[in-house]
Amino acid sequence: MSEVATDATLAGRAVQVKVPATSANLGPGFDTLGLALALYDELEVRVLDHPGLEIEVHGVGAGEVPLDASHLVVRSMAHTFASRGRELPPIRLVARNAIPHGRGLGSSGAAIVAGVMAAKGLLEGVESFTADDLLELATELEGHPDNVAPALFGGLTIAWVTPDGPRHKKLIVHRGVSPLVLVPEHEMSTALARSLQPASVPHEDAVFNVSRSALLVAALIQSPELLLQATEDKLHQAYRAEAMPETDRLIKALRGAGHPAVVSGAGPSILVLASDPSERADAVRLVEAEADTAWQALPLAVDFKGATVTSAAA
Ligand code: HSE
Repeated sequence: MSEVATDATLAGRAVQVKVPATSANLGPGFDTLGLALALYDELEVRVLDHPGLEIEVHGVGAGEVPLDASHLVVRSMAHTFASRGRELPPIRLVARNAIPHGRGLGSSGAAIVAGVMAAKGLLEGVESFTADDLLELATELEGHPDNVAPALFGGLTIAWVTPDGPRHKKLIVHRGVSPLVLVPEHEMSTALARSLQPASVPHEDAVFNVSRSALLVAALIQSPELLLQATEDKLHQAYRAEAMPETDRLIKALRGAGHPAVVSGAGPSILVLASDPSERADAVRLVEAEADTAWQALPLAVDFKGATVTSAAA
């Protein structure tokens, strides 16, 4: 039986957590495929020796996100402690965020994963968590596994849901794949994007996506020259286009010029799975020429490590 970790047992414990941004769907792989990207939220959590909850947020979200128990990292920590019948002890949380919010880059998944990993780190030697446990805890809060799987494990992930919980397979992306993320100034709500989708789709569209998502795995790990065909989709992007018309227009222009461009997650950012750095530069030039609003271009490497948690000096 595991040791009973009281607040006193955990007092003084501190961890540092680093979690990558993610892009989900990747075109055809709706709620299934995800890619970890080298842009990180970092945070430190310390158990206090007195009652309280102290939260400090720097960077993205500072002055906007709640600084109480409803903060997503804190909710996720509390959820993870509760999964082992424990209460979250008093903590001080300092977050340094770089992942843009509401843009389809997995910021909520990253916050959830940060909370799960912080709780895991604080409970080191007291409770143990398997990879499946971590994915299940994060998916319970996020609702679907395609962002939290790559945020946890890095690389390209295939995630699927079984009666025993979500599962994942991590794959290493071909070194020729050079992701480019194009981020607009405006946000998009995932809930709104999901509400625009029909409850059922034509069988032929389902077959279309089955073929493209199978091909996309091959293209990403072995044959980048197939990425343009492999990123075609009929399950979600057209239904959501009315909510992000500029994203839709720019993706059509990019694809028309031969760039494998897709909506990143639920949008409104665009992910271009370029095959080399010069293709990225061409895509950025095209967007600068065609866009009506300001778009930030982020050439990002694939993150192969996923979320990390390390013990911080007390
Ligand atoms: N698969 C999800 C969606 C990712 O597109 O709704 C965004 O959370």
